[in-house]
Amino acid sequence: MHNDSRELSLQHLRKSCGLHGGARQQNRGEGLLAHAQGVTCRTGPDQLRNMSLTVLGIESSCDDTAAAVVRLTAAPEILSSVVEGQVALHAPFGGVVPELAARAHAERVDLCVEQALEQAGVTLRDLDAIAVTAGPGLIGGVLSGVMCAKGLAAATGLPLIGVNHLAGHALTPRLTDQVSFPYLMLLVSGGHCQFLAVAGPESFHRLGGSIDDAPGEAFDKVAKVLALPQPGGPSVQAEAQRGDPRRFSLPRPLLDRPGCDMSFSGLKTAVLRARDGVIAAQGGLYQQDRADLCAGFQRAVADVLVEKTRRALAETGFTLLAVAGGVAANTEIRAGLQTLCAHLDVRFLAPPLRLCTDNAAMIAWAGIERLQQGHRDGFDLQARPRWPLDSTAAPLLGSGKKGAKA
Ligand code: KG4
Ligand code: ZN
Repeated sequence: MHNDSRELSLQHLRKSCGLHGGARQQNRGEGLLAHAQGVTCRTGPDQLRNMSLTVLGIESSCDDTAAAVVRLTAAPEILSSVVEGQVALHAPFGGVVPELAARAHAERVDLCVEQALEQAGVTLRDLDAIAVTAGPGLIGGVLSGVMCAKGLAAATGLPLIGVNHLAGHALTPRLTDQVSFPYLMLLVSGGHCQFLAVAGPESFHRLGGSIDDAPGEAFDKVAKVLALPQPGGPSVQAEAQRGDPRRFSLPRPLLDRPGCDMSFSGLKTAVLRARDGVIAAQGGLYQQDRADLCAGFQRAVADVLVEKTRRALAETGFTLLAVAGGVAANTEIRAGLQTLCAHLDVRFLAPPLRLCTDNAAMIAWAGIERLQQGHRDGFDLQARPRWPLDSTAAPLLGSGKKGAKA
């Protein structure tokens, strides 16, 4: 790189990583800037298949700022995975506040990258590409990650790869267990709910999804109406353990209709009505009432997910079901899916929770898969609030609590 263009790139890096003001911020960036000097891209499209690839991933599409380094040699290896959550930041507001999220991402993303490189024991010189979530998600957050990645790519000359966040989730079973295509992915979190037939690194077909709330969102709202702590999933699950799932008759929305679409908004409202009914009848809500409501709600969600999964497996004929997303941590849902798969002689795969929930290792891995396909993005890479994985599928109706549904 010529001196002038390097200086330009370093300025770009400073700006894009939010390193333009104050001595403290400049110090923070020095590690990255030092790394950036003298890096050249060592990958040509034809050499990629058989060589070791080391990719930095950056994720900032919702309420986790994350960076990770993944290396592919004979098998993929996660060299580091740094995730900084924003739960405490948004807790007082009962949901993710996009402006606060965007600011926090902009303030932290460069630090996460520095930590990820340090923990991996690599410098920018050791990388083959920079992969970043370019959507779907909250636009301010996605922009923070994309600008940081562009700055790094400009400063180093490394290829820039925009990754669809949902592809990151969908390809995770290949990172963790090196599974072959095709397989069925059930993605269930606070922002997503869909069945994906995954046939290749860039070949996804959506079989169905929630037409309103994502299941994690419903867990969170049920926790809220029952005055349980957030995030709602774990607290509803804990209450449900002491409850009777049969006491309240709650709906199984859309089970009476064919196909794999789901709905969880009415179920949440049914819980609210049942709660109000109990309060009206006995003047208050006792611990057992709360436990029974949680158990009934959790059973209804599990029943819907299991039955719709049965249909998705029948439709595709696939012999592998993989799950991702925070709701996949739910023991009743997991057990239901496991039992279904055992019955159908289908392999069930649940990656470790830290890789089921939002992280940057999945983005680095999806970047590796795209790189191997010869894909690179230019500096015109856009941050996209909506980016359906399967552009042929009809759009889903809901926007999701986190605005990340596609
Ligand atoms: O994947 P995730 O960490 O973040 C995104 O939504 O992107 O998922 C978080 C969601 C929350 O709504 C949380 O309540 C839910 O996953 N969750 C659970 C459980 N653990 C987390 N839902 C049901 N049961 C759980 N054990
Ligand atoms: Zn996600």
